[in-house]
Amino acid sequence: MLRIDGCIDELRKAVREIRNGGAGIGLVPTMGYLHEGHLSLVRKSRAENTATIVSIFVNPTQFGPNEDFDAYPRDLERDTRLLEKEGVDVAFCPAPGDLYTADHSTFVTEEAVSRDLCGASRPGHFRGVCTIVLKLFNIVGPDRAYFGEKDFQQLQVIRRMVRDLNLPVQIRGCPIVREPDGLALSSRNVYLSASERQAALALNLSLKKAREQFCSGEKSAAVLVESVRKELEKEETLRVEYVELRDAADLSLTSKVEKPVVLALAVRVGKTRLIDNTILNEVSS
Ligand code: PAJ
Repeated sequence: MLRIDGCIDELRKAVREIRNGGAGIGLVPTMGYLHEGHLSLVRKSRAENTATIVSIFVNPTQFGPNEDFDAYPRDLERDTRLLEKEGVDVAFCPAPGDLYTADHSTFVTEEAVSRDLCGASRPGHFRGVCTIVLKLFNIVGPDRAYFGEKDFQQLQVIRRMVRDLNLPVQIRGCPIVREPDGLALSSRNVYLSASERQAALALNLSLKKAREQFCSGEKSAAVLVESVRKELEKEETLRVEYVELRDAADLSLTSKVEKPVVLALAVRVGKTRLIDNTILNEVSS
């Protein structure tokens, strides 16, 4: 595996060489501190492309001033070893100065799909995500790029950006990877104390319960949302930021489950912000 720390020209040369071999290139953008969720994206990319490039970059522009940019967990050496083992072709690991000049002043703003849910509680977050993802697409020029459904709104915002800006890349969504007890894997789970981690099990449990209600015929958004909220509120240490049921394609409000929808939530457990979701009424492909 080639590891390229920050030199964009070096990365572009490597990509050119891979592309000349007639290969499809898969890109997996990450912020590192890799876990099985990230690796599931890597494996899917490896299965669908001749070469896979993984970027590891804790992107400063998607963190708010009071968020955890400095504290965000980092372990580049461990990440590199994991990617090597997975057979990744290139790990691209730039520093902020490699991607943003001091007078960087151009951003990408998606104005509909990114507005509510996490967009409402994290102003500027999706602007930072869109900007870095477009930069990575421009640097690498992947045929396909891989994103997890764990960050469902992020996935749909990226799809919208790609559609609206005519970007020549196919966006591939990947299912949520969970711990055996149901907690969705996240680099931020390391922040949780033992008791917070226990309380966090309510996220998946509440969604599972609502899914069961849906499967037994409940189609009302208000009832399903209230059911999730009630379950979460049983855990005193959780503070609910939002529970919402939205159209899965464009995240618009919907009062009844008719088309595929996403039931999504964000909570705070101590100082940690966690998100989770489940798709209901999915059309199987
Ligand atoms: P990060 O949080 O490192 O996640 C990288 C990718 O892994 C995202 O597409 C995310 O949805 C996916 N992922 C994380 N946990 C997952 C899980 N439990 N199951 C499945 N997929 C999971 O998301 C980001 O980084 C950044 O915003 C980024 C897109 C890299 C832009 O900076």
